[in-house]
Amino acid sequence: MEVPVCTYCGCDEEPAIQSLRGEHATIEERIGAVVSAVEHGSPDKVQAAVANLVSVFALHSGREEEGLFAELGGDTAASGEVDRLRGEHRELLARLAAQGTGERPEELLRLMAQLSHHADTEDTDLFPYAMQSLSSGSWERLRELMAGAPGPSGQSGEPAESGSARETCTGEY
Ligand SMILES: [Fe+2]
Ligand SMILES: [Fe+2]
Repeated sequence: MEVPVCTYCGCDEEPAIQSLRGEHATIEERIGAVVSAVEHGSPDKVQAAVANLVSVFALHSGREEEGLFAELGGDTAASGEVDRLRGEHRELLARLAAQGTGERPEELLRLMAQLSHHADTEDTDLFPYAMQSLSSGSWERLRELMAGAPGPSGQSGEPAESGSARETCTGEY
């Protein structure tokens, strides 16, 4: 029987990772709403769905950068990937702002796929790596940060979607 790697590495048990994965679940829901609006809705609905997505992704990416990415800052093995993910935040936010009107639906759908892939990479690669490499002091600071900042639904420190964390991760980097 194959045992999911997260059962081994324990990253699903860490509250700070649970919060970040909960935010990813909210982002995925809002990506789904954008796709649905592009395929079936009016331009107004596309714009509203994109704005709804941007509000949570901007907050979430800031929390990652201020928290997890900063804690990994001294890890030379991770710094290249962290820089790349930080750069993706900038690029994704800029493109969301530029394409949020839905005038180019195919580009907007591609952007949704790229945003989903970004979150997937963090879930399956970065978070398990962080679980194995960060100190207990880092996790205490991250828990405080996640508890003190408002969540994507405006609830302080609450994961947006509990129980939605992925069951598999590579644990590799
Ligand atoms: Fe991210
Ligand atoms: Fe993320």
